[in-house]
Parts: sequence; C-alpha cells; structure tokens
Amino acid sequence: TTGGSLYDRIGPEALAELVSRFYDFVAREPLLTPIFPADLTLTAEKQLAFLSGFLGGPPLYHERFGHPRLRARHLPFPITPARAQAWLACMRAALDATPAISAADGQELFTALSRVAAHMVNTPAQAG
Ligand code: HEM
Repeated sequence: TTGGSLYDRIGPEALAELVSRFYDFVAREPLLTPIFPADLTLTAEKQLAFLSGFLGGPPLYHERFGHPRLRARHLPFPITPARAQAWLACMRAALDATPAISAADGQELFTALSRVAAHMVNTPAQAG
C-alpha cells in the first residue's frame, strides 16, 4: 500500500524479518563482530523496538528503555567510517533478502538509516 508511515507500509512482521536477517549478516561481518556481543538476541530486540518508533509506529524503545540517546550509547564502541559502511552493507543485504519489503520502501528506509549511521561514526579511519 502507499501512504501512511513507513512502519504502516512495511508492517511489524516484515520489519521483524528484516531485523532478524540484519543480525545474521552482522554476525558474519568481521569488521562488526569484535564490537557486538556474541549473543545478539537482546541487541535485535532493542533494534526492532527502536525501528518501530523511528519509522512512525509504536514507540516501543522509548516505552521500555527510555530515550535512545543513540550517539551516546554508541560511544563505547569504536565506530570507524568502514564499520558504518559495513553496518549499512548488512542492512542492504537484509533488505535485498526480504521481498516482503518493496524496493521503494526499502530505499526510503536505507536512506534514513544512512543518515543515522553517519552520525554514529566516532572514530577516525585509521583507528579501530
Ligand atoms: C546498539 C554498533 C548504527 C541503533 C549497538 C551496539 C553496537 C552497535 C556495538 C551494542 C550492542 C549491544 O550491546 O547489545 C553499531 C555500528 C553502527 C551502528 C557499528 C554503524 C554505524 C546504528 C544505527 C542505528 C542503531 C544507524 C539506528 C537505526 C542501535 C540501537 C542499539 C544499538 C537501538 C541498542 C541500544 C541499547 O543498548 O539500548 N550498535 N550501530 N545503530 N544500535 Fe547501533
């Protein structure tokens, strides 16, 4: 369908599928595994809750965990430009593997996430 929020267009089931696939890719990405926990269950739950509100659906992350303060929460992890690109490549791969999300909705989501990912970079290219 068209119109409504991106959350309404994608729907909770396809969003959950996407997040699950995304962390399957993260778990296999050598640039990312050193900074993520081995068990990604809680990480995936938090990401799904965050994206729900971020895309215009129920503000589940805020309800459960408070203000996300995303940049501050990412400061303990050295996020280089290469890691941000790797994170986005995992998201691109997860979108491509989720036909329940239309190409147009996927592109809109990817563009929005690209902006947030750029904001999370906190470490220069040489380090990390
Ligand atoms: C948590 C890495 C971008 C949303 C985390 C964690 C890491 C991480 C290592 C901690 C996982 C844990 O302890 O469970 C990265 C890297 C990024 C990136 C390398 C590349 C730019 C993003 C973006 C978003 C996001 C673009 C928003 C769409 C979150 C959320 C959490 C999280 C909601 C959970 C925060 C919490 O602990 O409550 N991320 N992240 N991240 N990230 Fe990212």
